[in-house]
Amino acid sequence: MLSASLSVALLFPHLVLTLLQLQPSAGNFVSSICSPTDKYTNGSTFEFNLVHLIDYLYRDATTNGGFSTLSSGNWPDEAYGLIMCYDEYTVEDCISCLRNTTSLEASEICPRSKTAVIYYDQCFLRYSDKNFFSQVNSHDHYCSYDTISPPIDDASMKFVINFISNLSAEASQKPRMAALKMMVKGTISASVQCTRDLTPQGCRKCLQRAIDNDDFSRCSGNMNAAGMRLLYGSCYIKYETSWNLISINNSFQPKQYLTAGRVSSGWLYSTIQWTSFDPSRPI
Ligand SMILES: *[C@@H]1O[C@H](CO)[C@@H](O)[C@H](O)[C@H]1NC(C)=O
Ligand SMILES: *[C@@H]1O[C@H](CO)[C@@H](O)[C@H](O)[C@H]1NC(C)=O
Ligand SMILES: *[C@@H]1O[C@H](CO)[C@@H](O)[C@H](O)[C@H]1NC(C)=O
Ligand SMILES: *[C@@H]1O[C@H](CO)[C@@H](O)[C@H](O)[C@H]1NC(C)=O
Repeated sequence: MLSASLSVALLFPHLVLTLLQLQPSAGNFVSSICSPTDKYTNGSTFEFNLVHLIDYLYRDATTNGGFSTLSSGNWPDEAYGLIMCYDEYTVEDCISCLRNTTSLEASEICPRSKTAVIYYDQCFLRYSDKNFFSQVNSHDHYCSYDTISPPIDDASMKFVINFISNLSAEASQKPRMAALKMMVKGTISASVQCTRDLTPQGCRKCLQRAIDNDDFSRCSGNMNAAGMRLLYGSCYIKYETSWNLISINNSFQPKQYLTAGRVSSGWLYSTIQWTSFDPSRPI
């Protein structure tokens, strides 16, 4: 983990700051993408607005099905925020995660950043000084994959991609913009979800990025990983396969594996953080 971070840092020196902030500060913290130079000052009106925004977001989301978009303050110090739970978790897990997204915590993870995405296992928080609502954000992203199970073969990977593609179409048509599905025999379980400020077209576009940009194979270094978690700025994809597990354990429980994340003994994540992944974006 440390050496992986270091080698990424050597390749992308501008990422060092972000990587240094990867230490978990709450039980379920996963990763963060913080604006490195666009900073607010201590005691500024923007800081005041942001602190209130994060508090309002938490309270609004707990009564709004685990999702909220809000803004706080007036131009030019307005703060915009979005918070969302991943749908495969229970309401209790969702609320516990939302409760952890405090402004104090955010200021420790992304000190004085005006724009940030902070991923937790069960939810994520995004904020900015610019209005980003309804815009597809798949350039901010983070991925991790199952490094314990052996990779799956090309035909299986093709099936996974097809499965997720179908699931993406389904999710974009639903009010909650989420779909979770597992095969009856437990060979695959997958979960996809978009932030609910997107249009159905925007949702599909965000999820399609994984397929169009070949992020599945990029994430795992050209391996067909048996399980993966791709978290974007406004959507996410997770999948877990059991082609390898089924021979050793017939009592596979996909949901448990999928939701257990880093807690499950079956998962060991190798983490790669990309903030400037698109060739079109300056490194
Ligand atoms: C919230 O943070 C606390 C303290 O860091 C941690 O024990 C708890 O597990 C976190 N919540 C979730 C849902 O993980
Ligand atoms: C801003 O406040 C933080 C903590 O309150 C402190 O660590 C930091 O040095 C302050 N920065 C400036 C520029 O005053
Ligand atoms: C995806 O959907 C198509 C069309 O409904 C179907 O034929 C195909 O079997 C589905 N693929 C998977 C992997 O579920
Ligand atoms: C199979 O999986 C179940 C559920 O995860 C676990 O309780 C059991 O110990 C496993 N069996 C073997 C032989 O690994």
